[in-house]
Amino acid sequence: MNMEKSIKEPIVKMEGIVKTFPNVVANDGIDFEIYPKEIHALLGENGAGKTTLMNILYGLYKPDRGTIYIYGKKVNIRNPSDAQKLGIGMVHQHFSLIPYFNVLENISIGLKELKINLNTNKIKEKLDRIMQEYGLQVDPEKKIEEMSVGEMQRVEILKLLFRGANILILDEPTSALTPQEVEELFKSLKSLVNQDKSIVIITHKLYEVFEISDRITVLRKGKVTYKGFTKDTEQEALVEAMVGRNVVFEEFNRKETNYTGSLKVIGLTVYGKGKIPIVNKVSFELKRGEILGIAAVAGNGEKELIDALFGLIKANEGKIFLDDKQIDNKPTKTRTQLGLSYIPGERLTRGVAAGLSLSFNSILHDHWSDPYIKNSLLNENEIRKFARKIISSFYVNANSEETLAKQLSGGNIQKFIVGREILREPKYILAVNPTSGLDVGATQMVRQALIEMRNSGAGILLSSEDLDELVSLSDRIIVMYKGEIVGSFKRGEFDKLRIGSLMMGKKLN
Ligand SMILES: Nc1ncnc2c1ncn2[C@@H]1O[C@H](COP(=O)(O)OP(=O)(O)OP(=O)(O)O)[C@@H](O)[C@H]1O
Ligand SMILES: [Mg+2]
Repeated sequence: MNMEKSIKEPIVKMEGIVKTFPNVVANDGIDFEIYPKEIHALLGENGAGKTTLMNILYGLYKPDRGTIYIYGKKVNIRNPSDAQKLGIGMVHQHFSLIPYFNVLENISIGLKELKINLNTNKIKEKLDRIMQEYGLQVDPEKKIEEMSVGEMQRVEILKLLFRGANILILDEPTSALTPQEVEELFKSLKSLVNQDKSIVIITHKLYEVFEISDRITVLRKGKVTYKGFTKDTEQEALVEAMVGRNVVFEEFNRKETNYTGSLKVIGLTVYGKGKIPIVNKVSFELKRGEILGIAAVAGNGEKELIDALFGLIKANEGKIFLDDKQIDNKPTKTRTQLGLSYIPGERLTRGVAAGLSLSFNSILHDHWSDPYIKNSLLNENEIRKFARKIISSFYVNANSEETLAKQLSGGNIQKFIVGREILREPKYILAVNPTSGLDVGATQMVRQALIEMRNSGAGILLSSEDLDELVSLSDRIIVMYKGEIVGSFKRGEFDKLRIGSLMMGKKLN
């Protein structure tokens, strides 16, 4: 960073922003600036107020107090189209694309309201030009529902650029991407900045902050606790600004376990389109008191394997036994009653009913059973008690058990789901990226809770994008590639390079 950059005027200046929700001060007098041609990392614990602050800049929320200046001029941003007219665009963690429309159709939606009048050919030409200019390639005719998460994200960014965005806000853009996709995204972000754009990126991953950002702002409980250039910032200072203390990462206490019972999978096969196996004759045994990690680059059958184990999709061949009971022909409900639990990757669509209370959400899988139902009536006291237990045990940032799931911050929804699935006391847990979207402290807490479950006899199948997480938690790791298990490692013999190579389809000698 040179001096010239540091004396430039900010293009966005948010001053004294206050936003209160019932019983929560989400933003408590925040000053935030965005400078030209910078990547600005916005950091902070779950519930610190990051998404709220950016939603205000994007016109989704109206601040109770405070002023926003764009290029030095005071503005009133009433809605996202006001924001877009000022050159501000935002990509939320949960995309807003229409799945059965193609790229061009998605880009065209709402252009009229912005007074961009173009016919289809002109739209296509302009899109081509933008794709060239920023090195963001997608097939304009491809439908969203046929895309990987990385591609969808490119479409979201293209959509903003098409509308003339100069300031791009990305809320946790890397949480659902593979490492390769993250690399590609970062390359595009750098080329955007080189061409005069400014970017705000919200993330919980500190190595990304140091890799990509020029400047950092940290929020804690709605207030700014740190501002500075990335190059002048130490990691310890950042963590302290986020959580208000030094975080000590203790080694987990893994007990020797010797429980009987297992989740046994024999020759499990799931066909995709054209009878091509997505999961191909997969066999393994997960014992109680063990964490079995699945290492795979997303899209290699790990998702379908877990969906088939939980009964969300049907396996075409093979058998599944839960403590010697065959369950492959049983519905999800029976599987959960027999002691299977599931922490899904897509938390808003599969993890919770977003528009309902935490109370209701606490019994999403147990609403047919004792003690939550008595004489065909819901036993509200018991339900509320369980919801309160999840909230207090997993430090979920919520007013009460009657808060709606969608009123929680992203990370707090995740804590709630993990807490619910663990406190059901299952015998087996299928966990997909259980710490995705969690801050440093919450990540440590959830990992600790999984180890305690294991120590007390649960079998945990852990699928994670984060190889370090797999290595730190697992007793064994199996590697999946193109639907098959291509390698297996015992704790003590974990070798990240070898695991990584197998994940990429390389043969080891
Ligand atoms: N629509 C809403 N209704 C009520 N409360 C809300 C609403 N949106 C946010 N909040 C509350 O405001 C606070 C800040 O939430 P916000 O989503 O900004 O956090 P965040 O920093 O983005 O956290 P995360 O890292 O978990 O995504 C939280 O306590 C949250 O529950
Ligand atoms: Mg958020």
